[in-house]
Amino acid sequence: LAADIKVVVSADQPGPVIHRNIYGQFAEHLGTGIYEGMWVGPESKIPNVRGWRKDVVGALKDLKVPLVRWPGGCFADEYHWREGIGPRNKRPVKVNYNWGGVPENNAVGTHEFFDLVEQLGAEAYVNGNLGTGSAQEMAEWLEYMTAEGKSTLADMRRKNGRDKPFRVHYFAVGNEAWGCGGNMRPEYYADQYRQVTSFLRTPAHNRPIMIASGGHGQMTSWTEALSKGVPGVNAISHHEYTLPTGKWEGKGAAVGFPEAEWLSTLAHTQRVDEMIRKNVAVLDKNDPSKKIGFYFDEWGSWYDPEPGSNPGFLVQRNTLRDALLAAMHFHVFHNHAERVKMTNIAQMVNVLQAMIITSKDKLVLTPTYHAFKLYTPFQDATSLPVKVENNPVYKVDKLEMPGLSATAGRGKDGKLWVGLVNANATQAAELDLQVGTATPKSVKGQVLTAGAMDAQNELGKAPQVVPVAFEAQAVGGKLTIKLPAKSVVVVAVD
Ligand code: AHR
Repeated sequence: LAADIKVVVSADQPGPVIHRNIYGQFAEHLGTGIYEGMWVGPESKIPNVRGWRKDVVGALKDLKVPLVRWPGGCFADEYHWREGIGPRNKRPVKVNYNWGGVPENNAVGTHEFFDLVEQLGAEAYVNGNLGTGSAQEMAEWLEYMTAEGKSTLADMRRKNGRDKPFRVHYFAVGNEAWGCGGNMRPEYYADQYRQVTSFLRTPAHNRPIMIASGGHGQMTSWTEALSKGVPGVNAISHHEYTLPTGKWEGKGAAVGFPEAEWLSTLAHTQRVDEMIRKNVAVLDKNDPSKKIGFYFDEWGSWYDPEPGSNPGFLVQRNTLRDALLAAMHFHVFHNHAERVKMTNIAQMVNVLQAMIITSKDKLVLTPTYHAFKLYTPFQDATSLPVKVENNPVYKVDKLEMPGLSATAGRGKDGKLWVGLVNANATQAAELDLQVGTATPKSVKGQVLTAGAMDAQNELGKAPQVVPVAFEAQAVGGKLTIKLPAKSVVVVAVD
């Protein structure tokens, strides 16, 4: 007989705030992520506001996107900001060597990016170029964006249409310095960071949070080197992608995968938890006053490219599996809210685990979009401890993982919110919800599930993965929640 599953929320033990930037996004000059997907130019027949698609921006606003990271990624270390200002028809065309070798016409530059974040009501995260740039280039970019009084660079900004300085909330020095950002060693990068940041000046009230580019996966060496006496490190970034097979050669298909790959994909969030734990332990040792943030500024699924697509464009289908993967990442990030104050899913539109997929003037909202939407009440919520008692084991062949995952928080709206995932692809689960020792009266919210593991939303077809209303009432002193197989449920508790 299966033991009774109980989810117990400790509402009287408030933890750290779940920073809204945990729900941040990443938009790189890659494939059709920016060009076509979001930017169509002011002359386009596709309805737009100063070049940005109205439909895409509208859908992203509904997600309450808190922050956008730009212009890369690997692209950032080959991006020269001066090529992206001034009249668009005079901007140089370069080859985007990282992503498909296609022409990059620099139509989206600093002014266009800030227009996008301002339209979204989001914060700006600008990633500087350390790889092929210099301290001078980054310093001048910051002066161009933030200088207020007399300055030739500020005058240039004014001439290009922007009188008021841009608000730069976050600024990173390079990206993946261990790889595409220059194949450096952590100690060498740490020295570069010290040197470069000595010259990055802004008015004090427009000082970005400065981000040092950290490691990936299980690495802790970058966090170690960057948190030990390197001045001016406000946060260290870290990257980790989920590959169903765990191998870059043959990552696994986005659709039509076996159940074992469903499980291996979702189980990967346990590894993400481990990565954060290890790095936070290093930070706790080197930075006991907890001044340095740990930002997971690239995460998400990475599958074999869509057959027939340019492999450099990182096009992949987005299915129910991605929705569960996103929700389980949120749970992990909430658990580490004390240090993890920003994360950015890769990427916002048309690339990797996207929110939106566009085709000409049409768009489709992916299962990942709906997962983000379901969890909006957790933005800036106060985290609450939650325990899953008698968590059933989910097993396929030799692989296994805990079947259920849960999170809880007191929202800004004053409500108690609970997020639940049933990872089991074939078995529903029944659990009793308790708040301390009390039984709540009822829960109300939404469920995301579908018939197939790889159910997706496709253009021109009825969407298969959309949230549906969900509720449950207490009966006989018990509040039982029935989670369908392969589902995400987010509810407010009464
Ligand atoms: O998101 C795609 C790429 O993945 C980014 O450009 C890079 O930082 C990472 O390797």
